[in-house]
Amino acid sequence: MTKRPAYYITTPIYYVNDVPHIGHAYTTLACDVLARFKRLDGYNVMFLTGTDEHGQKIEQSAEKAGVATQAYCDQVSERFQELAKAMNFSNDQFIRTTEERHKKSVQHFWNVLQDKGFIYEDTYAGWYSVRDEAFYAEKELLEGEGGEKLAPTGAPVEWVEEPSFFFKLSNFEDQLLKLYETQPDFVMPKSRMNEVRSFVKGGLEDLSISRSSFQWGVPVPGQDGHVMYVWIDALANYLTAIGYPDQADELYQKFWPANIHMVGKDILRFHAVYWPAFLMAAGLPLPERVFAHGWWTNEGQKISKSLGNVIDPFELIETYGLDAVRFFLMREVPFGNDGDFSRRGFVLTCNANLAKGLGNLAQRTLSMVYKNCDAQIPNPGELSNEDKKILVSIDNLGDVVRGHMDRQEFHLAIEAIFAQAAAGDKYITVQEPWKLRKTDPARMNTVLYTLCEVIRQLAILIQPIMPDAAAKLLDMLKIKNRTFDALGPEQRLQPGTSIDKPEGIFPQFELPAEEA
Ligand code: MSP
Repeated sequence: MTKRPAYYITTPIYYVNDVPHIGHAYTTLACDVLARFKRLDGYNVMFLTGTDEHGQKIEQSAEKAGVATQAYCDQVSERFQELAKAMNFSNDQFIRTTEERHKKSVQHFWNVLQDKGFIYEDTYAGWYSVRDEAFYAEKELLEGEGGEKLAPTGAPVEWVEEPSFFFKLSNFEDQLLKLYETQPDFVMPKSRMNEVRSFVKGGLEDLSISRSSFQWGVPVPGQDGHVMYVWIDALANYLTAIGYPDQADELYQKFWPANIHMVGKDILRFHAVYWPAFLMAAGLPLPERVFAHGWWTNEGQKISKSLGNVIDPFELIETYGLDAVRFFLMREVPFGNDGDFSRRGFVLTCNANLAKGLGNLAQRTLSMVYKNCDAQIPNPGELSNEDKKILVSIDNLGDVVRGHMDRQEFHLAIEAIFAQAAAGDKYITVQEPWKLRKTDPARMNTVLYTLCEVIRQLAILIQPIMPDAAAKLLDMLKIKNRTFDALGPEQRLQPGTSIDKPEGIFPQFELPAEEA
């Protein structure tokens, strides 16, 4: 048996200070689509997600909720695990930073950095934002309406003075710039790479990596009173999950370095500057790519708990079904850009592409096969130029989609797939198979066969995006081989195969009341 290539993909691990919303679902969904695509394309995939449970923000949130900190983490982490189920995420692991294995891993990581001479003790005196869990230099701060100082993200900051251990980040300026130069795809999209490069060029200060004014964190080995800065703790989760510090572990051997860390643009600096510097210091290989996607707003407004406009993914799934939710999030916004969520946009996009697009094409075709061809895949006769043309483009679609997926252009992959559904629709309108039933049944069979073949390949290709809808279509057509090697002309539908009575796959949605 040939060895399948390995592919390691990670999501950020989510803070447990808040229940999951659409933004969290979005990042993990993008990873899920990629993970499912890679598995179908023959890769051995490790897809990791989880929760980030330490730090001052979590400690304060638990206190506010009046719940013991660990119990609070357990509760919220559970909600993220429920979201993974509701969204049908195919993650291979769900890691929590309060697990014992992680404590062991990150303490080992710390010791390596220490032994190699990259950690020293001093005092941190500067600005800190608990909401961002980030240190800010004076020059980065903004002024609020009342003259108060704010982080560049708009989060409040406070002055902190405490004994702290520092990581010699300033040593890594040249190596980081060299990394960005030699590996131009290390940060994607390209515009984000420019942002990261100019941040590093602006000069790096050493990074405070321990806190001593509160307790909720991984203890710094051998240093009473210090817990690790939550970001060094959190980033190391990517190593813990594959067996670190045991570098002989089968998973570590297979999956490190990671192929892609998917993140939101808000946390790019941590992944594209601090993380590679930590790894360089520890002498570990670097991940291949960090992809920073954009942010969702809700009907034009920033999504925030205080504005009360958080979009609840559970409610969306309940209202529209999972296929539509997954489709919309991946289709609506060019991946990497910011996007706005609106119910109207949701309904319009889903109706046009799903109910009226692919759903209608499948329903019309399969109903005709069911009624006019004894519920069996018909026997094609000689192919016309139109038949050949549509078959050639569907046979090539797998390669087109693969190219987009490799660049995380999910919207373009989907666009290409649905353009083929539209081409199928045009073909059916031109060929009018319903008229051929009486005039030329042999030609009707050829047309319907061609359409079924288009649907077969479309159904295989939409599996990563809408696994449920794809499975329904593939079940109806009785297709067994659903992996990407079944794409193209080699595994065409077998004439004579019985199909199930077709059922609608995508419902049509009503526009929201105030807009109808
Ligand atoms: N715990 C850190 C990450 C540590 S990774 C080693 C963290 N957690 S978070 O809960 O705040 O999640 C941040 C991530 O959630 C963002 O990077 C982004 O992927 C996603 N999103 C949160 N809100 C979002 C939107 N409104 N829109 C899109 N994604 C956003 O940061």
